[in-house]
Amino acid sequence: MLKVIEYGGRVKDFGSFFPILERFDLHGTRKGAMKQFKKIFAYWEDIIEERRAHVNSSTWSSDQAQSFLDRLLENGFSNNQIYQLTMVMNYTVPKNAKIFVNLWAMGRDPKLWDNPLSFNPERFIESKLDFKGQDFELLPFGSGRRMCLGMSSGIKSVESMLACLIHEFDWELPNGDDPSKLDMNERFGIALKREMPLMLIFKQRNN
Ligand code: HEM
Repeated sequence: MLKVIEYGGRVKDFGSFFPILERFDLHGTRKGAMKQFKKIFAYWEDIIEERRAHVNSSTWSSDQAQSFLDRLLENGFSNNQIYQLTMVMNYTVPKNAKIFVNLWAMGRDPKLWDNPLSFNPERFIESKLDFKGQDFELLPFGSGRRMCLGMSSGIKSVESMLACLIHEFDWELPNGDDPSKLDMNERFGIALKREMPLMLIFKQRNN
């Protein structure tokens, strides 16, 4: 490890002063560092293989996991991915990992929302919170480079559909049921559905 640090700290290298020469590795810095890395990886490899054999054995169950390494092995990460762990916002993440941000949990987090489970659209009146990908507590269209391409079209469709339904019809629950008593439980899936389908009676407005 000391050797790796030594190579990392080398400044007596033409490549450090003239980046155009970096690729030629004139002082053998890259070659030397790679040699040291390989030695370290070989040491880790034994540990990883030992844990991999344990995780793949028939007696393994998830509650036996002792470390983050066990979790990575359980989820099928290769040695190469494990060597190339990286940090993203203080989380350790293996190379090429697919990250799912749990927006469902964020939407129900009392640290982010007052009374998160109550249906209270008024909470957005006079709020500076926007839903277009800049305020991370509310991301219906995602955020960043892979955010929804159809956001403008989506917003217009939802707004115009909802406006027509509200403007043209009066809505009520069957048997005069109280809307505040609706069963709002969800059926889990990629897109959440209500556990009990919503039944509504609508009457055209005479305006
Ligand atoms: C209210 C309606 C809509 C909602 C809530 C919505 C939501 C989303 C979300 C959450 C993502 C994933 C973003 C991410 O990974 O960060 C996405 C991706 C995407 N959406 Fe939408 N969407 C809607 C309407 C539309 C429409 C109307 C279109 C097409 C005309 C569309 C096209 C796409 C495409 C192509 C992607 C993939 C973008 C990429 O991966 O680079 N969406 N959408």
